[in-house]
Amino acid sequence: VNQNPSIVLGNTSAIDEGACKAYAVGKLHLFAVKKAGNIYLYQNRCPHAGLPLNWFPDKFLDRDGELIQCSSHGALFQIETGRCVAGPCPGRRLQSIDFIVDNDDNIVIQAEA
Ligand code: FES
Repeated sequence: VNQNPSIVLGNTSAIDEGACKAYAVGKLHLFAVKKAGNIYLYQNRCPHAGLPLNWFPDKFLDRDGELIQCSSHGALFQIETGRCVAGPCPGRRLQSIDFIVDNDDNIVIQAEA
């Protein structure tokens, strides 16, 4: 029996290709990235100093839109893996969040029990 309630974050159609969307679920701060039509979902917390990644709403990528960039000290992360490839925390990873996309294209996570 799955006792964790599902939480709908939003619809994938609300995220443009190559763009991001931030979500808050209680104290949990998340963001989704859409790249090549795929959705990636991470906690909005930099593994370097534990700070939120973005300064501006829904802006998480570098100028080229190729990497996730932390606004505090410039760490760069692969969109697909969350792995830091440059900056002060190389090799560390953003915390990815499990989700499903339902039949209505909603991004759905399970709440923590
Ligand atoms: S807190 Fe992200 S690079 Fe320092």
